[in-house]
Amino acid sequence: MELYVDSANVKTIKELKKWLPIDGVTVNPSIISTERKPLFKLLDELLVLSDKYLHVQVISALKEDIIKEAERLHSISDKIIVKIPVSEQGLAAIKEIDTARIKVTATAIFSLTQALSAAKAGASYLAPYVSRLDSIEQSGVKLVKEMKYIIDKHQYLAKIIAASIKTSNQVKELLKTGVRAMTLSPEIMLQSHRHHLTDRAVAIFREDWDSVYKKFELDSEVK
Ligand code: E4P
Repeated sequence: MELYVDSANVKTIKELKKWLPIDGVTVNPSIISTERKPLFKLLDELLVLSDKYLHVQVISALKEDIIKEAERLHSISDKIIVKIPVSEQGLAAIKEIDTARIKVTATAIFSLTQALSAAKAGASYLAPYVSRLDSIEQSGVKLVKEMKYIIDKHQYLAKIIAASIKTSNQVKELLKTGVRAMTLSPEIMLQSHRHHLTDRAVAIFREDWDSVYKKFELDSEVK
């Protein structure tokens, strides 16, 4: 299972990478905008932090411009996967791009048919927007389950990268679907890893040791 951080904040990503097995970074124009840095300078910094892939989204809406941006982004590094929204123009671009050379993440997926067409067109990753579906009284997890079924049934190579995740419960339910990748905001990454009972257990281990041994060292004498 690949784990990505959905952020463009270099300091935050560095902190998370100190203790979490993060494979790479995902960004979109909204995430990039919050950093207020020139794009290509920021991408250089994010590439260093992306052990596997850095998923970077195009900004154009028209097929020909999307294809040009995909070429430009790909020319920076083979580690960059080009994210393209599955609009009509976006799907047309994915269909035309040599996806064996330029890897594509089909993004902003809200339906099974969008996912299927993107997989057929050659996308390497499919990014369903889980929370944005939940917020309109549909189920993001259900869509992911259906996508997983169709991809496995037709043996497409595309991996699902679950995106737009807003709760730890969504993380748990998505893990159970067997998705191959997931991208989490720093907040959800912290929330779903930290547990007060883990912290309490560690504190009790310390108290029990201190009640018997003279020093907090492995070779300490008993009191
Ligand atoms: C990641 O690839 C997506 O762009 C991101 O998860 C979208 O999430 P949002 O719904 O929080 O904007």
